[in-house]
Amino acid sequence: MRCEYFEADLCRSCTHLRTPYDEQLTAKQAAVEERLSVPTWLPPVASAEERFRTKAKMVVAGTVEDPTLGILDAAGGGTDLRGCHLHVPAIHDALPRLAAFVTNARLTPYSVPERRGELKHLLLTANRDGRLMLRLVLRSTEALARIRKHLPDLLSDLPLDVVSVNVQPQHAAVLEGEHEELLHGATLPMPVNDLVLPLRPQSFFQTNTDVAAALYRQAREWAGEVAPSSVWDLYCGVGGFARHLAAPGRRVTGVELSEAAVAAAQESAPEDTRFVAGDAVTWVRDQDPADAADLVVVNPPRRGLGPDLCASLEATRPAHLLYSSCNPVSLARDLEAMPGLRPVRGRLFDMFPHTDHAEVLVLLERRT
Ligand SMILES: C[S@@+](CC[C@H](N)C(=O)[O-])C[C@H]1O[C@@H](n2cnc3c(N)ncnc32)[C@H](O)[C@@H]1O
Repeated sequence: MRCEYFEADLCRSCTHLRTPYDEQLTAKQAAVEERLSVPTWLPPVASAEERFRTKAKMVVAGTVEDPTLGILDAAGGGTDLRGCHLHVPAIHDALPRLAAFVTNARLTPYSVPERRGELKHLLLTANRDGRLMLRLVLRSTEALARIRKHLPDLLSDLPLDVVSVNVQPQHAAVLEGEHEELLHGATLPMPVNDLVLPLRPQSFFQTNTDVAAALYRQAREWAGEVAPSSVWDLYCGVGGFARHLAAPGRRVTGVELSEAAVAAAQESAPEDTRFVAGDAVTWVRDQDPADAADLVVVNPPRRGLGPDLCASLEATRPAHLLYSSCNPVSLARDLEAMPGLRPVRGRLFDMFPHTDHAEVLVLLERRT
């Protein structure tokens, strides 16, 4: 993939762009094998090299008349990346119209060096059909009336299923705040494999939907082999693993901190599947051991599970555990903290080509 931003040294996010993709994948596989003691590895799942990102997090800078959508440089000024080759076409095509919206609605880009302005980020997610969810992250609600006024024009130009405003008042490198106001729609349906996952603002969704689909299929296949009668999906988001693992006669419980994600997941939950809003660490600790699941799926943020949850899972003694990790370092540490579970096999899913980021799925079984 050739990238004019990389060549001009404007963006270096794709660190390994100059390395041919097959070599990148071989190196990433070698790195995870070195870090993790897993006896058997399936061949890595490759990504498309470009146009795979279904989620864009664009920092807004510059001026009302000439906003930049992209990243900040070292001095806190904006670098426009609206032509980034990683975004799927629906996102790529929508960004110029969103830049025009910033100008029309007089949304002053937030200036980090001056601590002034209103619009901080545009968060855009696309589904397989090109439908979009737009979230505008603002410093305050000052611009809300102007956004509402110009929204009908935007809705007639772009395939937006959901538009919301998120208020992030702090001067800190925090992507979004707690307060969210829906302006249009509520849910973006995300078709994945044979399912549709309901995505709402303030809910996590994997960035590379095609590779995520392969990850969920793999989890479903491995779960099918061990045939659990009950499953916990910890850190479940909108229920990607829970929904793929649901089967007749199998009880599935998803646990997730985001109430928005849980509410959406619960609405489309099949029979015998339920979603609980809460902290996975305390939820597992509070379960009656008699109700423990045969198979536990975990998919934590980069920090991993941590010692308390590892200890609770050891005590719970599930027959199998599926660990989906975006950070081999915390994964290796967590596996060491659960000596009662033995890694059986693993697979690398390359969600983030051109970078060192590795998403790994490992199947573990209880040592007898
Ligand atoms: C890597 S995402 C995984 C989401 C989901 N499994 C999927 O496939 O899309 C991690 C999720 O953990 C949630 N989370 C973070 N801390 C948590 C906690 N202490 N307890 C439960 N969920 C948590 C986040 O909100 C996020 O949805």
